[in-house]
Amino acid sequence: MNNASVPVVQDTRRRGLEDLRISVTDRCNFRCVYCMPKEVFGSSFHFLPRQELLTFDEITRLARLFVALGVRKIRLTGGEPLVRRDLDVLVSQIAAIPELEDLAMTTNGSMLTVERAKALKDAGLKRITISLDALDDELFRSMNDVNFPVSRVLNAIDAARRAKLDPVKVNMVVKRGLNQDAILPMADRFRGQDVVVRFIEFMDVGTTNGWRLEDVVPGADIIKQIDHQWPLEAVAPTRPGDVATRYRYRDGQGEIGIITSVTHPFCHSCSRARLSPEGQLYTCLFGQSGFDLRALVRSEASEQDILDKIRGLWARRDDHYSEIRRSLTQGLPKIEMSHIGG
Ligand code: GTP
Ligand code: 5AD
Ligand code: SF4
Ligand code: SF4
Repeated sequence: MNNASVPVVQDTRRRGLEDLRISVTDRCNFRCVYCMPKEVFGSSFHFLPRQELLTFDEITRLARLFVALGVRKIRLTGGEPLVRRDLDVLVSQIAAIPELEDLAMTTNGSMLTVERAKALKDAGLKRITISLDALDDELFRSMNDVNFPVSRVLNAIDAARRAKLDPVKVNMVVKRGLNQDAILPMADRFRGQDVVVRFIEFMDVGTTNGWRLEDVVPGADIIKQIDHQWPLEAVAPTRPGDVATRYRYRDGQGEIGIITSVTHPFCHSCSRARLSPEGQLYTCLFGQSGFDLRALVRSEASEQDILDKIRGLWARRDDHYSEIRRSLTQGLPKIEMSHIGG
């Protein structure tokens, strides 16, 4: 937003451009069954070669332009962002953009040591979200499909708290028949710990995760289950475009969120742009193609040329995939979540 809260650029549905999610790599050391199934992302899968990736300087240059267009919140994602070496250098470059208000990261926590968390904090990272789908070790190992233990992710959550990357959030994707019994233990484990657990409906991102509507546990059912055990009350959203619906425990033990992209889509207020590791701009998580900003950045184009291009792309944006998913778009090729970011 600029003066008097007028968005610098609005799309065809009057949504501003406020939030940029930057995927820094398409690689991940996990093979979560709902995201990067092993059968597809096996040893013969072609990940992006290094020279295809935007450099830190290119990412920062683009981030600066997005901020000039009204973005105030940036989230680094992947794949797994921490597989990219020296990520704290990128964090410090982006954190130095004066108008930026929020800089966060989504990670699986597998590489988040106490030292790394502190380095990221010192570099200017404000908040972190860590994915964890179950507390039962056997179940979690089978969901990440690389036999990674729960204990190390819990250590990462602790490291993030100690580094004051707060409020620390934990993302749990809920898939029926897989981990819906893990909902209550997860809520229990983090109540009173200043950690906000967000329960996420399994989504039909990409084309490889075998999504079926029957596998979605509606957010309302999740809330009902938790409320029955520990009464909840609704909390107002922090910002209008936020994806999570917030609740707090009536006994004062903190807060949780649900992300109901399937049962209650939130496209009407979606102010998120997404930059892929090789510099494609997507204006929807379910996009089928992006716009090649890398080509522009590596050309003679001026800052003004790039700004005009992004502004024009956003002004034409009409995406609202989650609102129409069931009717129109079944079977279309879509970008994978592991490529464009959670
Ligand atoms: P905060 O800044 O902490 O509020 O983070 P966030 O709410 O943006 O959450 P996060 O980045 O952790 O996103 C949580 C999950 O919500 C993602 O992993 C996706 O599953 C889902 N999600 C995020 N953005 C979108 C979106 O634009 N569309 C849809 N359909 N789902 C989204
Ligand atoms: N449905 C919902 N969320 C997903 N994520 C990945 N795949 C899916 C999916 N199919 C999200 C999770 C994870 C983040 C990296 O991406 O929230 O924490
Ligand atoms: Fe990796 Fe996150 Fe996808 Fe799991 S959900 S495979 S941790 S990118
Ligand atoms: Fe935004 Fe697309 Fe998600 Fe809708 S489906 S909330 S338009 S990213």
